[in-house]
Amino acid sequence: MTAAPRTLFVTTALPYANGAFHIGHIMEYIQADIWVRFQRMRGHTVHFVCADDAHGAPIMIAAEKAGKTPQQFVADIAAGRKQYLDGFHIAFDNWSNTDSPENHELSQQIYLDLKQAGFIETRTIEQFFDPVKGMFLPDRYIKGTCPKCGAKDQYGDSCEVCGAVYAPTDLVEPYSALSGAQPELRSSEHYFFSLSDPRCVAFLREWTRGLDRHGEPRLQAEVLAKAREWLGDESDAADAAGDAGAGGKLADWDISRDAPYFGIEIPDAPGKYFYVWLDAPIGYLASLKAHCAARGLDFDALLADPRTEQVHFIGKDIIYFHVLFWPAMLKFAGRKVPDRVNVHGFITVSGEKMSKSRGTGISPLRYLELGMNAEWLRYYIAAKLNGRVEDVDFNPDDFIARVNSDLIGKYVNIASRASSFINRLFGGKLTQAASGNDQRLAELESEVARAYEGREYGKAIRAIMAYADEVNQYFDAHKPWELAKDSARHAELHEVCSRCLHAFYRMTILLKPILPATAERVEAWFGTPDLRWGELHDGDAALRARAVGRYEHLMTRVEAKQLDALFDLPAAGVDAGAAAGTAGGAAAGGTAKSGTAKGAGKSAAGATTADGGKAAGVAGGSGAASNSPATISIDEFGKVDLRIALITAAELVEGSDKLLRLTLDVGEDKPRTVFSGIRSAYSPQQLVGRHTVVVANLAPRKMKFGVSEGMVLSAAGDDLAGGLYLLDVHEGARPGMKVK
Ligand code: 2FM
Ligand code: ZN
Repeated sequence: MTAAPRTLFVTTALPYANGAFHIGHIMEYIQADIWVRFQRMRGHTVHFVCADDAHGAPIMIAAEKAGKTPQQFVADIAAGRKQYLDGFHIAFDNWSNTDSPENHELSQQIYLDLKQAGFIETRTIEQFFDPVKGMFLPDRYIKGTCPKCGAKDQYGDSCEVCGAVYAPTDLVEPYSALSGAQPELRSSEHYFFSLSDPRCVAFLREWTRGLDRHGEPRLQAEVLAKAREWLGDESDAADAAGDAGAGGKLADWDISRDAPYFGIEIPDAPGKYFYVWLDAPIGYLASLKAHCAARGLDFDALLADPRTEQVHFIGKDIIYFHVLFWPAMLKFAGRKVPDRVNVHGFITVSGEKMSKSRGTGISPLRYLELGMNAEWLRYYIAAKLNGRVEDVDFNPDDFIARVNSDLIGKYVNIASRASSFINRLFGGKLTQAASGNDQRLAELESEVARAYEGREYGKAIRAIMAYADEVNQYFDAHKPWELAKDSARHAELHEVCSRCLHAFYRMTILLKPILPATAERVEAWFGTPDLRWGELHDGDAALRARAVGRYEHLMTRVEAKQLDALFDLPAAGVDAGAAAGTAGGAAAGGTAKSGTAKGAGKSAAGATTADGGKAAGVAGGSGAASNSPATISIDEFGKVDLRIALITAAELVEGSDKLLRLTLDVGEDKPRTVFSGIRSAYSPQQLVGRHTVVVANLAPRKMKFGVSEGMVLSAAGDDLAGGLYLLDVHEGARPGMKVK
């Protein structure tokens, strides 16, 4: 039934090379990987690539802080990728980085083609320059006093205290967040991509509204609506505004940055580099090119072939780049434009949003290190995904229910129940059993295939599980345990169990894109390697009268304590921490799902809390402050990242009489939320505007009230009788400064 063979070039968004993967990355990769595996099972050719997004000021600055070259910094991050990708069975064909020779060459070529076509302009603009660092400052590195409410240490674009939005040049007493120096306004020539060119606008109007070659809309309805708003479609002109500028007219795009910058040099423009977002998507092509070189494929021919479909998977935060800049750049550089841009929502944890840079309480690496089965997560995420731009919520109870009740209780259960009779009484041999209801199967198959194609994985799973219910009911209705007692009815028993194993085999094919490792074990068990979609039909013949091997348990159940450990509950000191009035430990006690996670204190995070507490002489996870702490080395102390924090907001926490929810500016892009057990000593009003010290590298902790992203330091005696005192900071210290 598989349609004409397709050739697909599929990508996921390129992650910035300045941190480990968080669960949001893994979700996107799982979504795309399932789609790719499905296409391959249908006999299509897929080139599935990704890369690290290496360039830009933040990575350059992070590398400098780490005392590394940007190249080394990126290489070190890249070295950590494999364990995640292998661990979650994400099978990219190639992983590059955007600083590769292929990307330098392609970016420069595309730029020259755009220039040749008349889409590049230069203009002189004024920007803040840091005279100490000798560089122009991106907005996020400029801070100062809010021109509206007078709050100190606000970012260059908006005030977190009063919400005002402004230009960096409006800040009162601006300073560089990098050096503290007062920035100077300097002018510089910048290069622009003429997005406002009528040819661009006309092309984008048509492309965004178009259908792909299968007659499906190229963009999801929500994404198209956004694009129309930005493009100021005639019919929507009244609503158009926002990023595209008043009236919906697209603004030209500033694609250059001045040295020093970690990026790709602009040809014939000394000291000018491409803005990271120009060369990042070109990194898709560069990674494909490297993949082609490694496989002996002709990259140019592959992309020139009109039959090659280009499909991008991205998150909803980067739609603008992928439905405006990227297709326009490709189009006017004379290249293939994307066939589809598939957008997904964010992943939330128990309904809470995560921070893009720090992720959530779920660490994918910790998930793997705890020995949790990657396919549980693949199955769970798939069960929650659909083709719309909706957030996916990870809920621990729901996770346990879906894995144990559905995946294991329904699907795996069929194999274990039916095979026990087949192995015990029939030497593993299956009967010539007819495959059962072919009509039913054909409907299921096309329903599941349609669902996979449209990324409606939840729908696919529901259909497969409904079939599993039918099979289990069939099994139960024939009471095989009774048939087994009567040797005269063994032929009937043999038939019933064989039919159930046939059904299990088919379900395995349908689930294989989601459960590749389990499918591989089933393939070995049945002796039918490399199951493809076609085997849903042909395989029946191959399967008949076949002997299966001994059944080995396919999958264990997930336990509540594993979820507890995943959410990183501290061990000892939870209550003591609360008594001593420190953050972190104080609040974490409420997170337990089943209260079985006491062992989690063996985790790195638990140890850091304890060390931090002792070293800094405050009561932390280790309980009441010890009067005679064990000595530690300076290196051990150095592991604790203490930073100056400005408390920008403080609130009572409903349901807790010990905690306050603090919003802290720690000199980062986004404020942090920290829950602190200092309510007995301070009212929220006493805290706003104060500077204090925060343990900034404490692993984020999921608590009953939200995620705590650090720990503020306070002093207390063995009990609270002597009072509790938040550490104060001498005037002049700025948020984000390191305490050493
Ligand atoms: O938002 C991000 O994480 C970017 N690094 C995504 C880049 S996607 C592509 F354009 F490279
Ligand atoms: Zn303000």
